[in-house]
Amino acid sequence: MKARFTLFFNNLYMGKYTKVTALYFSPTHTTKKVVEQIASSLATILGIGCGSLDITTPQSRKQQITFNSNDIVIFGSPVYIGRLPNLISPYFKTFVGNGATAVAVVVYGNRAYDDALAEARDILASDGFECIAAAAFVGEHSFSRILGGGRPDVADLETASRYAERIYEKLSGNGAGEEFAVPGNPAGSRKFYNAKNGSGSSIDIRKVKPLTDKGLCTGCGYCAAICPMGSINPADCSDVPGICIKCCACVKRCPNGAKYFADADYLSHKQLLEEKFSAIRKEPELYL
Ligand SMILES: Cc1cc2nc3c(=O)[nH]c(=O)nc-3n(C[C@H](O)[C@H](O)[C@H](O)COP(=O)(O)O)c2cc1C
Ligand code: SF4
Ligand code: SF4
Repeated sequence: MKARFTLFFNNLYMGKYTKVTALYFSPTHTTKKVVEQIASSLATILGIGCGSLDITTPQSRKQQITFNSNDIVIFGSPVYIGRLPNLISPYFKTFVGNGATAVAVVVYGNRAYDDALAEARDILASDGFECIAAAAFVGEHSFSRILGGGRPDVADLETASRYAERIYEKLSGNGAGEEFAVPGNPAGSRKFYNAKNGSGSSIDIRKVKPLTDKGLCTGCGYCAAICPMGSINPADCSDVPGICIKCCACVKRCPNGAKYFADADYLSHKQLLEEKFSAIRKEPELYL
């Protein structure tokens, strides 16, 4: 009898959810792949609708994003120097959760995610979400083709689907409301990763911008349309007047491979990362 009642109330509770949303900032699409996999798997298990909110372009970040307590949101961001992207995270703080259920996901390039996951979970909580789970997945490093090359791969996406099953179990009462810890320093003592070149000196690549091989560029304007900072001049895509966050959307997604970085410190840092971290396969870490 007790079991019948428990099942009845579980079903009632699960019935409150109407939609799963994959909400992500994802210049090179690794974060997008992970959060959409978790969201679609969870929506399938729950038998409810699934949608995506891509907040990668400046245009898309003009909207006010508001949820309600019937929503489940799988939020994802890449890790930049051990934290959430610092020029984008102020926007993450404007989401209105209104008691929606959320899962915090960060995707990092096989070095480390440092304080980024703790930061994502804290931002969602301060936005008014009930953050019930968090995870760090590995994606191909924005700077590289070999560091985390090809990830998330089939195994990662399978892990994402299994993770959705565990989220479902937690939502159905098995561990619902339980506190969970994630690695990372507490707010106030979080730092950015100190990027270095091959000689061991700290580098400052904030002003570095991509170059364009004019022999390859067809002037299609795609890079200007996808730049998350709106920093590329659409009338002349070799001109980058705005801030560049080194996200590599233009480098990796230009259909003609015309964009590249040539800065010595950038290239040296990239090589250092590849030498130190390419040989080890880091696995997704799931918290709930
Ligand atoms: C500016 C910048 C800093 C990054 N810092 C880190 C880092 O600290 N640790 C790490 O493992 N990967 C780091 N990455 C790699 C990204 O986190 C990783 O490639 C991620 O999968 C990119 O996500 P996206 O495909 O959604 O853009 C950095 C990438 C960029 C562009
Ligand atoms: S996407 Fe590539 S080919 Fe198109 S304008 Fe930009 S650099 Fe040129
Ligand atoms: S110009 Fe910089 S910020 Fe814009 S897409 Fe290219 S790498 Fe990203």
